Formats: sequence, C-alpha cells, structure tokens
Amino acid sequence: MTKQILSLALMSLLVLLTASAQKRGDVNGDNAVDVADVNQVINIMLGKAPDDPVSPGRTLIAYYSYTGHVRAIVNELTTMIDADVVEVQPAEEGLQYEANNYALGSALISAIGENPDDPASYPAIKPQRIDYSQYDNIIVAAPLWWSQMAALMQTFLFENGPQMSGKNIALIVSSASSGISSVIADAKRLIPNGNFADQALWINNSNRSNTSSLLTDWLASLAFINIEDMTPKLYLTIDGGTRLTATLADNVSTRALVEALQEAPITCQAHDYGNFEKVGALGRTFATCDEYVTTEPGDIMLYQGNNLVIFYGTNSWEYSPIGKIEGLTLDQLKQALKAGQGNINITLSLD
Ligand SMILES: Cc1cc2nc3c(=O)[nH]c(=O)nc-3n(C[C@H](O)[C@H](O)[C@H](O)COP(=O)(O)O)c2cc1C
Repeated sequence: MTKQILSLALMSLLVLLTASAQKRGDVNGDNAVDVADVNQVINIMLGKAPDDPVSPGRTLIAYYSYTGHVRAIVNELTTMIDADVVEVQPAEEGLQYEANNYALGSALISAIGENPDDPASYPAIKPQRIDYSQYDNIIVAAPLWWSQMAALMQTFLFENGPQMSGKNIALIVSSASSGISSVIADAKRLIPNGNFADQALWINNSNRSNTSSLLTDWLASLAFINIEDMTPKLYLTIDGGTRLTATLADNVSTRALVEALQEAPITCQAHDYGNFEKVGALGRTFATCDEYVTTEPGDIMLYQGNNLVIFYGTNSWEYSPIGKIEGLTLDQLKQALKAGQGNINITLSLD
C-alpha cells in the first residue's frame, strides 16, 4: 500500500516536473525529464531541498603527498571505501621543499598568501582531466605546510575547486603537530560552493599509528559515504577456481593481514584436520588477538599467528578471528573447500 502511494506520488511529481521543465530552463532544452529532474523528485520525497545532491554517490579522492604520509592515509582509505583516486603532482619534479630550513615550501605558501586570487601565485602542477559530473563526493587529502594547505594541493583546488560546486567535500589533513584550522579555511576559500562535512580528519605524528581506526570513525560520521562500502572484503580463491567472499573482522590481526594483502595476494596450502577445518601455514606471522571461541562453519581464523584455518565444522579453541565466508549453505561450503579431500591451495586477496 505504502509502495503504491509512493509510486503515485513519484509519478505525479515527474509529470509536474516535465510540465515545468521548459519554464525552469531545462538544461538541454528538450522539455523532458532528465537525471537532474529525477534527483529533485527523490530529494523532495526524502524531505530534502530539491537541488541537494542525491547521496550516497560516487566518491573521488584527490590528494597530494610530498613525504608519503598522505599517500599512506589514502592507501588505507581505499581499502575501506569504493573511490577513484587522483594524485596531484608538481610540474617540476625533484624540488626539495624542505631544504634550507623549508625555504622553498615557505616561499610558495607566502606567495599564495600575498595574492590568493592570482593564478601566477600557485606552483604549476601536472594537468589531469577529471570528469566531475561522475562524482557526488570528493575527499581532499593534503599535508599542512606552515599551517596552510600544501602549496601544490592549493594549486589543484584553485584550478578545480569551481567544478566541485555543490559536491559533498570532506577534508583530511596530515601535519607533524600544527593544528589544521587554516587548512580548512584554505579548502573553503578554494572550493567556495562545496558542501563541506562538519568534521575534517586531522592526522598528526602523535595519532598516526591509529590511522585505520581514525579513518573508520571519521567515515562513519560522514552521512554521504555508503557505510556498506566501508567494510573491506576478503576473497579466497580455491585451487585457482572457485572464489569465495568473506566479511572481515576488525582487529589487529585483520589489519595486519589487510596491510600484507595490499602488497600482494597470499597463497597457502591447506589440509583437512579433525574433520572440521582446512588449515595451512601462511608463511609469515601476523599480530594475534586470540580469544577462546567455539567456531561455526564459514569462520576464518588465525591460529598461532601463522596458520589460516577455515571451518566447515565447529571446534572450541583459542584463535584470532579473521572473518566469515558469506552466503553459502553448509553443503556448498564443504564442496567449495573440498572438505575431506586433502590439500587445496587457498589464495587470499582484497580484490
Ligand atoms: C614545506 C613543509 C612545511 C611544513 N610545515 C609544517 C608545519 O608548519 N607544522 C607541522 O606540524 N608540520 C609541517 N610540515 C610537516 C608535514 O605537514 C607533515 O610531515 C605531513 O604529514 C606531510 O605529509 P606528506 O608526507 O604526505 O607530504 C611541513 C612539511 C613541509 C614539507
């Protein structure tokens, strides 16, 4: 019933919008309902302003990194959300911004501060073609230089900020220790019509080791990021064929495993044990967070820090939880794992 009422309301609004499309100045002048019109209907039905962006949508991460901190943050972020990434690069390579007591970095920041509206104040960057119509959300990640946004990221936003009008903008700033209020002000000056998230994420030398959990908490505070996209999945390919998908637990062991898998997939040979599991050596040791658990079929555990265990039965022992294989019946799981049939090769990967 509710569905029917919603459909009727949707149809009426579409008719109304079609009728008024020409009057409002329809973008392509075809007097037809286009994507923008449909977005307006969705927003009206959600009780939002008609021209609000419909969320969640696609996300672009734009970042600059000189010494690698921001790059590491972005690498971590991309394991958590589905996003395209652009890296800002200087037109002139090999410059030492920190040499001679940060002379060049300091001069670049001063030049922008003195004439922020003059394109000549901004150091040149390599050109990139970005189709902003694809994105609703933009995460800007930048280092702090002399309390301002790093000069090259400022160039990028000076050139691209106008195209980010009306988009959801979220800011990540990395500094050694300085506070980031002036970097936030830079971002707002350079993207004057951005729809900024309330919280910018500040990562500095004293909280950098917690980057993963800081990102997780911050992402959860952003209304426009699809929470479902945040959970990285673990994929298990059995003997180069069947591919299983698992949800990952969030603990020191899974974080260490994800970090290793970002470098390269890991393959281990696993054998049957106890008529309830496949177990195999991972060839390296990961951090543990052992707890005494009774496992269920589909559970993936780390045993003694260096063995992967996948259960098709149950057992009670001390393991570090890694994740759970999704969406298979017990029979399908046993078939996929070749339960009771001896050795299999399991390749773990993140994509
Ligand atoms: C030219 C320059 C100026 C900097 N100025 C500051 C500063 O004023 N305060 C601060 O806490 N860190 C400052 N830093 C340190 C960076 O903000 C910090 O190391 C940041 O994490 C670097 O990110 P990146 O490794 O992605 O380039 C500066 C670094 C450079 C290169």
